[in-house]
Amino acid sequence: MQNRIKGKVVAITGASSGIGEATALMLAGHGAKVVLGARRSDRLEELADHIVKAGGEALYLVTDVKQRDDLIKLVKLACDKYGRLDVLINNAGISHLSRMDELQVEDWEEMIDVNLKGTLYGIAAALPVFQEQGSGHIINIISTSGLRIVPLQGVYAGTKNAVRTITEALRQEAGANLRVTGISPGFVQTELADHMKDPAIKAAIKEKAEKIAISPDDIAGAVIYAISQPPNVDVGDIVIRPTAQD
Ligand SMILES: NC(=O)c1ccc[n+]([C@@H]2O[C@H](COP(=O)([O-])OP(=O)(O)OC[C@H]3O[C@@H](n4cnc5c(N)ncnc54)[C@H](OP(=O)(O)O)[C@@H]3O)[C@@H](O)[C@H]2O)c1
Repeated sequence: MQNRIKGKVVAITGASSGIGEATALMLAGHGAKVVLGARRSDRLEELADHIVKAGGEALYLVTDVKQRDDLIKLVKLACDKYGRLDVLINNAGISHLSRMDELQVEDWEEMIDVNLKGTLYGIAAALPVFQEQGSGHIINIISTSGLRIVPLQGVYAGTKNAVRTITEALRQEAGANLRVTGISPGFVQTELADHMKDPAIKAAIKEKAEKIAISPDDIAGAVIYAISQPPNVDVGDIVIRPTAQD
């Protein structure tokens, strides 16, 4: 396949671990210039150094996707340093699992702020640049949680399905110059479960992940596929689960 990734400028939120980190490494390995955003500066610095030492190009900026300005600054960094932005990957996300009647309202709000509003802030930061350039690509990392709804995941799945809906509306509005892709991973071996609060739920998720989870590289490969298509080919939805996932 022709390398259509080389030279592309790709900004990634949530690049400090898991799917975002793996995607950054794989994109940089294919010659993309990556612009890394997340809150943990030490992890971003280490990743950017690693990419640069391997001969790639990478910049990073401490980015909290709850802050609209941080997304604007991330996109601006790409444009100031590399002259353009070709792809924005809205990947930052958190997952708090609980029954609805536990009323973990603060957790609900955090998931809405990070998973949903954070993605919207990313879209709002990138769209004006894409419109001015006459090209661009938004990739939203969604989840199979929104495809097979199960107990404990109602609000998490709700935020992801809101993103799915917005992704499709954006695709229809976008016209011929803007590509829009939604990628829904199933169980992936990352740090996502480490941040879960309920010890029993965390242990159960981690145990299941140990048994069946796929690698973040498997999701990064889908990102590579979507970006690698010719400009007139828009990869819409990709669902990637472990074969063993129910
Ligand atoms: N792992 C799975 O099984 C799975 C399945 C389906 C979908 N997903 C989705 O995949 C995406 C990536 O998650 P992951 O599995 O790779 O988990 P992860 O290793 O925990 O990565 C999550 C990333 O999001 C960042 N993040 C969290 N809150 C943030 C904020 N307020 N501002 C900026 N960045 C923030 C984290 O960085 P900092 O803490 O440094 O900010 C981290 O880089 C998420 O959207 C998740 O919902 C994961």
